[in-house]
Amino acid sequence: MKLSVVSGGLETVKAPAIAVAVTEDQLVRLPAKVRALLEDVTFKAKAKELAAVPAFGKLPAKWLIVVGLGPAREVTAETIRRAAAAAAKTARGKQLSGTAFAVVGGQVDGARLGQAVAEGVLLGLYRFQQYKTGLKTDEKHELTEFRLVVARAADRVGAARGLARGETIAEAVNFARGLINQPANVATPTYLAQQAQAMARTLHLRCRVLSRPEARRLHMGAFLSVAAGSVQEPKFIILEHNPKGRRTVVFAGKGITFDTGGISIKPSEGMDRMKYDMAGGAAVLGALRAAAALRLPFHIVGLVAATENMPGGSATRPGDVVRAHNGKTIEILNTDAEGRLVLADALAYAKRFKPQAVVDLATLTGACVVALGSEAIGLMGTDAALARRLRQAGEATGERVWELPLWDEYLEGVKGEVADVKNIGPRGEAGAIMGAAFLKHFVDGYPWVHLDIAGTAWAERERGYHAKGATGVGVRLLVQMLEDWAQDQGTASR
Ligand code: BES
Ligand code: MN
Ligand code: ZN
Repeated sequence: MKLSVVSGGLETVKAPAIAVAVTEDQLVRLPAKVRALLEDVTFKAKAKELAAVPAFGKLPAKWLIVVGLGPAREVTAETIRRAAAAAAKTARGKQLSGTAFAVVGGQVDGARLGQAVAEGVLLGLYRFQQYKTGLKTDEKHELTEFRLVVARAADRVGAARGLARGETIAEAVNFARGLINQPANVATPTYLAQQAQAMARTLHLRCRVLSRPEARRLHMGAFLSVAAGSVQEPKFIILEHNPKGRRTVVFAGKGITFDTGGISIKPSEGMDRMKYDMAGGAAVLGALRAAAALRLPFHIVGLVAATENMPGGSATRPGDVVRAHNGKTIEILNTDAEGRLVLADALAYAKRFKPQAVVDLATLTGACVVALGSEAIGLMGTDAALARRLRQAGEATGERVWELPLWDEYLEGVKGEVADVKNIGPRGEAGAIMGAAFLKHFVDGYPWVHLDIAGTAWAERERGYHAKGATGVGVRLLVQMLEDWAQDQGTASR
C-alpha cells in the first residue's frame, strides 16, 4: 500500500475513487460537483453513514464515496480512523486500485489527522486469509494506493509525518494480529520465539530466549508448571530496545499459545478461540516492533512468557504446590488459572531491570469480559500516575481502559492454605480483580499496572477497523503512552 499526501481541491484530484469524510455542518459547503452527485441519495453526514455513487463524467474518478462524521464537535482521531477504514474498504470492495481521501470539518488536523488516516486504512484493510486456497479475484483484490488530500499546502508536511507514523504503528498492530490469528499448531512458543528473533535482527533489538533448562535454573516454577503438560517447549522471550536509555519500562505479555485449561479442562464449546490466549504476548512483540522503528527514547524490555496449557501425562494437578522465581510458593487449585502463573514469574523477573514502570497485558479472565465486555480493557495496579498515562493513551487511541479497584482487602482472597498464595479466589467473586490480586504478590519495587484484555483482544464480528478475529489491542495503547511520556519529559526539561 502506497500512502501519500497531496494538497488542493479534492474535486480536482484524479483517482479511481474520491472519498470524502464530512461533518453534518460542512455538507452544504462541499464542492458543487460533489453535491450534485449526492442529489439523488439521502446522505445527511450522520456518524457512520456511508454512500457510494458512480462519479464518471462528473469528477475525475469512477466513484464518489462519502462517509458521515456526525456533528463537528464530536469528531476525534477515532472517528477519522473509522471513516478512513470505511472509505478504503468500500473502494476495495468495488475492485478499485486507489482512493483519494479528504476530511471536511472537525478539528483534527496535521500530524494527528495523517496518523489516524494511515491507521484506519491499514487496520481496516487487514485480513487473514493465508490458509484459503482458490480465492476468487474479488476476494484477493488489494487497494494499492491511498492519497490523503489536504486543503492547504502548509499542512502537507505535518500530515505526511503523521501518515508515516501511523503506517509504522499499524504495521506493528497487524503483525500482532497475524501472530494471534495463526492457529496454535503453527504459532507454538518456538514459533513466537523465532518471530521475536527475526524481528530483533531487522530492528536491532537485543533478544534472548530462555528454554526449559534455563527457566529451571532461574527457578521459574510457576511458568514451568503450566508448561508441564505440553510437549511443546516453553519459551521465555526477552526483547530489549535501546538498552542504554535513561528510563526503563517493562512490558510483560501472557503468551499461552493454546489454553485447554489443563487438567481443569475447559468445555469443548468454543475452545478453538483459546489460540488467542497469547494476545498479550503478541501485543508486547508488536509494541517493541513499533518502538524500535520509531526510535522511542526509552529502554524498553519486552517479556513474553510463552507456553501451551495442555493436560498431558506430566501436567500439573489441582492441589500441586510450586515455587516462583521470587521464592513465593503457590497452591495451584485450578490449572485453568494459568495466565497468572506465567505472569508471576515474568513480573518477578522484571525486577532485575529496575524499571520505572511495568505494564502487563493478558487475556486473563472471563470475569473481565463479563464486567466490561469488548469496549474496555480492565486496568488494575499500584500506581496512579501510570494508570493515568494509560487512561489518557486509551482516549487518544480508542483502546479505552477502565479501572477496577485493587484494595488491600482483595489480597485476602488469594491467601494460601498450605502455600503462600493460591491461584484462584472465592468462587463467583471479583474474578478479574482476583487475577490482579494474585499478580500483585509478584510485583516488587516498581510501579505496576495490569491490563486484562480478555474482552478486547478478539472481535467476534467485523467492526470499524477491526476484522473478525484478533484486534491487536494494546500495541497502539503502549506506543501512545510512551510517546506522550517522552513528550512530557521534553517539556519538563526545557
Ligand atoms: N484464558 C482464560 C481467560 C479467558 C476466558 C479469556 C474466556 C477469554 C474468554 C484464562 O486462562 C482462564 O481460563 N481464566 C479462568 C480463571 C478462573 C479459573 C479463576 C476464567 O476466567 O474462567
Ligand atoms: Mn485458562
Ligand atoms: Zn488462559
